[in-house]
Amino acid sequence: MPNTLPTHVGIIMDGNGRWATQRGLPRIEGHKKGAEVLADTVRYAKARGIEYLTVYALSTENRSRPPEEVRGIMNLLRAYLKDVNNYRKENVRTRVLGERHSLDADLRIAIENVEKWSAGNDGINVNIALNYGGRDEIVHSAREAARKLLSGEIALQQIDKAMIASGMHTAGQPDVDLIIRTGGELRISNFMLWQSAYAEFVFLDEYWPDFGPGHFDSALEKFSARERRMGGI
Ligand code: IPE
Ligand code: IPE
Ligand code: MG
Repeated sequence: MPNTLPTHVGIIMDGNGRWATQRGLPRIEGHKKGAEVLADTVRYAKARGIEYLTVYALSTENRSRPPEEVRGIMNLLRAYLKDVNNYRKENVRTRVLGERHSLDADLRIAIENVEKWSAGNDGINVNIALNYGGRDEIVHSAREAARKLLSGEIALQQIDKAMIASGMHTAGQPDVDLIIRTGGELRISNFMLWQSAYAEFVFLDEYWPDFGPGHFDSALEKFSARERRMGGI
């Protein structure tokens, strides 16, 4: 068992479509299975003592996929966020990262509700990155700082790393320590660009619907074996 646990784990849950196609199923079946694996993974991360888990569910770029697929994924996320057990019984504090103004009104309300009702939970913090883009998040924070500057609330010198971090959707949370990406691609695809400055990466060939506790454990073990110098010697 690893001795150094990451405080904050990010997961790029990739490979749902290929998992389904490989089985002769429509892509949405891969997303359905992926949503089940997400629920299991949250429980497992909590059991392992992970404090923060951020999962990449839908990127801003994913919205350019065929409308039926986007709608299907949105419906799965809707069901996930409306499942009260996720935050009542499971003691999960859930937050949603991403641009929410362009989402359907009921989904926006479901997001507001889950954030409000789960705010007192302390089993694990889970961030669902939905309609999320790392660059958008940085732009959003930069604009917020510019707005304060223009209104005379702050001086130019006050715009620093802490202020930019506080304008991120993850304000107040620790930076991500470990990013796991399933599905075989070796890239970040606009996930947590600011927060991953010193993250460790574990890339897995397995598709997300095949991810399980064994993969999680092995990623945690790899993490504990890494030497994080953070620019030092
Ligand atoms: C990840 O699986 C889920 C989303 C991006 C919404 P994909 O749908 O990207 O699956 P592949 O990469 O096409 O197999
Ligand atoms: C990243 O996967 C986004 C999510 C897992 C939600 P993509 O499938 O969108 O990434 P690319 O297109 O392969 O970079
Ligand atoms: Mg993909």
